[in-house]
Amino acid sequence: MKKDPSFQFKTTSLTRSTVAGKRVVIVGGTGGIGRAFSRELAGLGASVLVVGQTFRDTDIPSIEFWNADLSLMREAQRIADLLPAEELDLLIFTTGIFASPLRQETPEGIERDLAVSYLNRRVMLQSIAPRLGAGRSAGQFVPRVFLMGYPGGGQNGSYDDLNAERSYKAMPVHMNTVAGNEMLVLEGAKRWANASFYGLNPGLIKTNIRDNLLGQGSFKSRVLEGLIGLLTPTPQEYAKRIAPLFFAPELDGHSGAMFDRKGVAILPSSGLTDEHIGRFMAASDTVIQKANRAHH
Ligand SMILES: NC(=O)c1ccc[n+]([C@@H]2O[C@H](COP(=O)([O-])OP(=O)(O)OC[C@H]3O[C@@H](n4cnc5c(N)ncnc54)[C@H](OP(=O)(O)O)[C@@H]3O)[C@@H](O)[C@H]2O)c1
Repeated sequence: MKKDPSFQFKTTSLTRSTVAGKRVVIVGGTGGIGRAFSRELAGLGASVLVVGQTFRDTDIPSIEFWNADLSLMREAQRIADLLPAEELDLLIFTTGIFASPLRQETPEGIERDLAVSYLNRRVMLQSIAPRLGAGRSAGQFVPRVFLMGYPGGGQNGSYDDLNAERSYKAMPVHMNTVAGNEMLVLEGAKRWANASFYGLNPGLIKTNIRDNLLGQGSFKSRVLEGLIGLLTPTPQEYAKRIAPLFFAPELDGHSGAMFDRKGVAILPSSGLTDEHIGRFMAASDTVIQKANRAHH
């Protein structure tokens, strides 16, 4: 990962006066890092809506929950159509899994990791992004979209067999979701000026994300997650460190920027040219259309 020398993010704390009353949606805010963001922002007075499958924060009245299985493109479309996009200040995507050792397929015919970690975000953005900030006047806060993944790591993805129908290997499939998310940031920044788009790379954090690969509660999982837990920040520590980014004035005018686990600006992966992004997105839309056809 290479640092982006063009600007620095210096805001180190987030105050209640900045956050209070802000409208935040966290897709994937029910668990792991997304949940840590949700609790941090709600604690500072934001009104937060989380989308996921299992709500774990019934004790916090300012966190609202919508239930959706985002492995399904139909569900992603339903949620996107219902979200009050025009009124949002902050939209964060943290939904994700890891590809399993054997290929899994959703009822809509999509490889499961591709569907959960990447394609539902594409579906949601197509519907939400054009509506973000609609009706706001100049000088008002420009809505921000943060996509969590692993940007800046040099993954370009390969669109030839995006749905892994001809051959399947967990790592390359997961790396396609990594590349896809980085491309959503770059494409979003080019395409929509009514909102700003940013990528987040958290490094390694101990959560449930690797369960699908290692087996939930397995020996391998306990050893590896134990080690990760010893060596890396908790989701709460990471959230505290990164949350100031969400509203930092330094980010204005830098749509498309990406940040490493410490909030340092990093350069995008060098292979992500406009042409490559165009082809990858076309392949993504072909898979989404296949899912839509599964309903007819
Ligand atoms: N942790 C790391 O080391 C690491 C490293 C690099 C990148 N990341 C990225 O960080 C993001 C957050 O990951 P995490 O580590 O916080 O993982 P996590 O603890 O497993 O949380 C994942 C979130 O996704 C939701 N989710 C999973 N399947 C879903 C489905 N079918 N429908 C709806 N929601 C679903 C979960 O909600 P429910 O529990 O309600 O199903 C949960 O809120 C991901 O984009 C991941 O790729 C993480």
